[in-house]
Amino acid sequence: MVSIKNLSHAFDGRPVLSNISLDVADGEIVAVMGSSGGGKTTLLRCIAGLLTPDSGEVEVGGFDVHTQSEEARHCMGMVFQSAALFDFMDVESNVMFGVQRWSKQPRSEHKAVVAEAIGTVGLQGSEKLMPSELSGGMRKRVGIARALALHPKLMLYDEPTTGLDPVTTYTIDKLISDVRHKFGTTSIVVSHDVSSVFRVADRIAFLDGGVLTFTGDPEHFLEARVDSIRELVHKAQATDFLRE
Ligand SMILES: Nc1ncnc2c1ncn2[C@@H]1O[C@H](COP(=O)(O)OP(=O)(O)OP(=O)(O)O)[C@@H](O)[C@H]1O
Ligand SMILES: [Mg+2]
Repeated sequence: MVSIKNLSHAFDGRPVLSNISLDVADGEIVAVMGSSGGGKTTLLRCIAGLLTPDSGEVEVGGFDVHTQSEEARHCMGMVFQSAALFDFMDVESNVMFGVQRWSKQPRSEHKAVVAEAIGTVGLQGSEKLMPSELSGGMRKRVGIARALALHPKLMLYDEPTTGLDPVTTYTIDKLISDVRHKFGTTSIVVSHDVSSVFRVADRIAFLDGGVLTFTGDPEHFLEARVDSIRELVHKAQATDFLRE
């Protein structure tokens, strides 16, 4: 579903991504973890085609995100770190906005498509609420509904649970897993929450200072001989995150 080859990018001469190669299979959930400022959002932006890297290739669904950007864009939905809702539109209009603009479904079905996406994220009954009336978890759900309404094969989630309490975090993690189960959606989830990652991810990619220092399944992650991973795992174990 996703193929990244030798991707490098620098901002103002400072390397932010260095020679990243990563493949993500159909239906797989891959978590991207790493230090703050390690390049996670930048990597997602390169995959989404929102940023042109200095070098390397990114293909999504077999389409090059730069030379076949239109086709590649139709394969994916992105949930931004900040949810990025329109504050002057209610929940339903926020979801409808993208559908009217980009959906390939006939116009007559738009209302049903929006209702389905709102139902999938569990926000039925909240259609008329404004973003200012929503909790942090609900805002994230609207962001997810907006992306899901376009039926993407690939979902890109940038820190979908950051800033949420553990119970809300759990429900968002479950939603990400349910979406894969229901639609077979491939997902890349940026997160620094070890417990979340262990709940949802098949594989973990760890970015440290723009370098991919580890790629592998969660069990191997626990045993990785990489100092920054060991530190993270120890911290998580110390707070009992991994006990469940
Ligand atoms: N548009 C930009 N212009 C210049 N520098 C940038 C830009 N976007 C990101 N950077 C820099 O690139 C580095 C990586 O940023 P990025 O947002 O990808 O990190 P991140 O891993 O997502 O961090 P966080 O965990 O804090 O969200 C940072 O040092 C950041 O300052
Ligand atoms: Mg980020």
